[in-house]
Amino acid sequence: MHELNGKVAVITGGGSGLGRELALRCAARGMKLVLGDVDEKGMAETVRLVEQEFVGTESATMRLDVSRLEEVQALADLCKSRFGAAHLIFNNAGVSVNGPVWTNTPADWEWVLGVNLYGVVWGVKVFTPMLIEQGEGHIVNTASAAGWLNGPSSGIYNVSKTSVVAISETLALDLRDVGSKVGVTVLCPAFFPTGIHQSDRNRPADKADTAEKSEVSLKRAAALKYAVENGRIPASDIAEMTLKAVEDEQFYVFPHRKIKQLISLRAEAASVEKDVFDSMNP
Ligand SMILES: NC(=O)c1ccc[n+]([C@@H]2O[C@H](COP(=O)([O-])OP(=O)(O)OC[C@H]3O[C@@H](n4cnc5c(N)ncnc54)[C@H](O)[C@@H]3O)[C@@H](O)[C@H]2O)c1
Repeated sequence: MHELNGKVAVITGGGSGLGRELALRCAARGMKLVLGDVDEKGMAETVRLVEQEFVGTESATMRLDVSRLEEVQALADLCKSRFGAAHLIFNNAGVSVNGPVWTNTPADWEWVLGVNLYGVVWGVKVFTPMLIEQGEGHIVNTASAAGWLNGPSSGIYNVSKTSVVAISETLALDLRDVGSKVGVTVLCPAFFPTGIHQSDRNRPADKADTAEKSEVSLKRAAALKYAVENGRIPASDIAEMTLKAVEDEQFYVFPHRKIKQLISLRAEAASVEKDVFDSMNP
């Protein structure tokens, strides 16, 4: 989509981190905003920041859990009733848990796949037909470098993000198959500073964390926290790169350039069929 001014952006996970920065970058382009998040206070803060910097931006918010199809459908209904359409869809809400994969509980799997995978699946299912019908639109799915490189202690997250890359590539091919001009972008950043390492703050009580924390998992959680907090590219820059990618009709976005080299090294490691690829010690 080349012209974003006056169009409607829908952002899940719009109450924090990257979602908030995407809201600001969309508002900077004169877009109307529809935010969805489980965190109402977070969304209110995003709207406050948007209104402060871009006076007159029109916005709507909805408390929703993206893992529930009917709630994502309600978000689409809100777009129609409030603004008559939706154009740029960011399936962005995401959470993470740690621990050796055999220690992850059924609740861990349900929670993280529910948000990171089904949240994207439902976003694609609900919004794609709307965009096809109106003959314009663009879907941005937030995956991760973890969609390509599997680090330890992040098994569920890795599975979810690999799946987001898979559904994004398939969606782009399916749209091409039916001759649609609706665009797709898959965003694959490495670590950058947000609240992702504190995902538990919004974890539902019926999927509470009951896993016992081993020394290894505590060490990995501390390393993850450090990596996120010390990420070199701020969320605002990642948001701006993403908006440029939409304007340029770019499918893959790797804000951290080193990730592409590591993906090539992983492909080489697979091609020689020897030891597992370790992106921390390539
Ligand atoms: N920060 C990083 O290092 C990093 C790296 C790669 C990819 N990502 C991805 O970026 C995306 C945005 O995360 P972030 O880093 O800004 O983290 P964040 O924690 O700051 O923001 C995530 C937002 O998602 C919301 N959310 C959580 N569960 C939800 C649910 N069930 N329904 C609706 N909203 C829900 C949270 O309330 C929060 O506002 C995620 O998909 C994440 O996996 C982050």
